[in-house]
Amino acid sequence: MAKILKNLFLFFSIAAAITCFIACEKRSYVVKGPEVSLDTVSFSGVIQPIFDAKCVSCHGGATAPDLRADNSHKALAGGNYATLPAGESALYKAIVNNFHTPFTVQAEKDSIFSWISQGAKDN
Ligand code: HEC
Repeated sequence: MAKILKNLFLFFSIAAAITCFIACEKRSYVVKGPEVSLDTVSFSGVIQPIFDAKCVSCHGGATAPDLRADNSHKALAGGNYATLPAGESALYKAIVNNFHTPFTVQAEKDSIFSWISQGAKDN
């Protein structure tokens, strides 16, 4: 009898360990998305400086969208680049595509994602 109990205990311990392991494995496979900022992201203070430093060399008028200061917000809003959901927007999809992804670091991508999520305001 004691042996049966011991085997049962062993069986359930192993089952619990396997369940735990699978659950943890699943969690570790969750792909990390962009970090959404809870603070308001300022277009003039955060986003335009990224455009100035990383984008206007190419998007200075000839290549749409025109990301020069004073034009950029109009170009993005009018061109339907900064639409919701942010992850589906043409702007976010552009900055993470194979061609564009080297131009910005993750923190800059996150800021742009957050700014679009917050309604792409001209703030
Ligand atoms: C080396 C030049 C270059 C730089 C730097 C560059 N782009 Fe572009 N971008 C292009 C070209 C060329 C296209 C058009 C071809 C294409 O869609 O890839 C384009 C297209 C786009 C589009 C339109 C995509 C669409 O769906 O129509 C967006 C939005 C964009 N870029 C945003 C940016 C932003 C934001 C930055 C800065 C973080 C940036 N680009 C930096 C060259 C550049």
